[in-house]
Amino acid sequence: MRRYSRITGTGSYLPPRRLSNADLVAELATKGVETSDEWIVERTGIRARHFVADGVYSSDLALEACKRALQAAGLQAQDIDLIIVATSTPDMVFPSTACILQNKLGANGGAAFDVQAVCSGFVYALTVADAMIQSGAANKALVVGAEVFSRLLDFNDRTTCVLFGDGAGAVVLEASDIPGILASDLHADGKHVGILCVPGHVANGHILGDPLLKMDGQAVFKLAVGVLESAARATLAKARKTEADIDWLIPHQANIRIMQSTAKKLKLPMEKVVVTVDQHGNTSAASIPLALDAAVRAGQVKPGHTLMLEGVGGGFTWGAVLLTL
Ligand code: UT7
Repeated sequence: MRRYSRITGTGSYLPPRRLSNADLVAELATKGVETSDEWIVERTGIRARHFVADGVYSSDLALEACKRALQAAGLQAQDIDLIIVATSTPDMVFPSTACILQNKLGANGGAAFDVQAVCSGFVYALTVADAMIQSGAANKALVVGAEVFSRLLDFNDRTTCVLFGDGAGAVVLEASDIPGILASDLHADGKHVGILCVPGHVANGHILGDPLLKMDGQAVFKLAVGVLESAARATLAKARKTEADIDWLIPHQANIRIMQSTAKKLKLPMEKVVVTVDQHGNTSAASIPLALDAAVRAGQVKPGHTLMLEGVGGGFTWGAVLLTL
C-alpha cells in the first residue's frame, strides 16, 4: 500500500505587541519617515502587524505554534521524529533553529534542521517533510515557519518597513494510507538574488555588508504574479486535478493585490482565498501556516477540503503544495 503524508494538526502564534498602521505611522513620524494608513492599505491590504519584544526569538514563536499543533493532532512532543523549521531569521548562525526548538519542546532525538527559502520556506519544508515521510525516513513531523522579520527591517526605509511582521505557524504531518499531500512543485532562479535580500554576513567577529532587508518591490511583484500561477497549474497537473478541485487557495501573504491577481488567473473567486495579510502583514515563511491555522480555527477550512498552498520570495524562490486536509 502506498504511503502518504497528511496534516493532522495546525497551530500558530503571534507575539502580543500589535501595531496598527496608525501606530506604525506615528512611530515612523518620530524619525521623520512619512507614510500613511491610506497608502499602506491601498497598495498592500495591510492594516496591522505583530512585532516581538527584545529577547524573543524565532524558536520561541515556533515553540508556541508547535504546542498548539501537537495539541490539535493529539500528540506529545516525544512522538515527533522530524522537525523542519523554515526561517530566514534563525536564532543563531548555528545550530539550526530546529535544534533549539527541538530541545525547548523536549522532542529530542529525531532529525531536526532548517530550510532557507525565505517566503517560500514553508512550501519547501512541507515538500521535504512529505518526501521523508513517503520514503519511510520519518513518521511524524513538525513543519514550522517562524520569523522575526522586524529585526531585519530598516525603519528609515518606508518602502519596506511597513510591509513585514513577526509570527510562527506549524503543522503536524503524519504517515497515512489516505492521501493528504497530493503533489508539489518547487523552483528557484538565483539570477534574481539582488531583488530581495539581506546582503550582510558575519565574518571575523563583525557584520560585513548591510544586515537590513533590501527589496525592489515592483520587480518582486511582477515575478510573483507570474510564478504563482505557473506553480499552481503545474501542481494541479501533477495531481491530475483542475482549478475546480481547489476549495481554498492559501497563498503567501505579502500583498492583497498579488493574491487577487493570482486568484483571477486561476479563475478562483476571492471567497476561496484565505486572507490574513490585513492582520499579520508579511511574515515570510510563517505566513502560510499562520493563514492555514487561522482558517482552520475559524471553521473555514475543514477536514476533506482540498487546499493549494503557494509561496514566493527571495532567491528568487517559488512553489506550491496541493493537499487534502
Ligand atoms: O515576501 C516576498 C514577496 N514580496 C512581495 O511580494 C512584495 C511585492 N511588492 C509589493 O508588494 C509592492 O511593489 C510594494 C507594496 C512594495 C510597493 O507598491 P507599488 O505599488 O509597487 O509602489 P511603488 O514602489 O511603485 O511606489 C509608488 C510610490 C512611490 O512614490 P513616487 O515615486 O511615485 O512619488 C514611492 O516612493 O509610493 C511611494 N511609497 C510610499 N508612500 C507612502 C513607497 N512606500 C511608501 C510608503 N508610504 N510606505
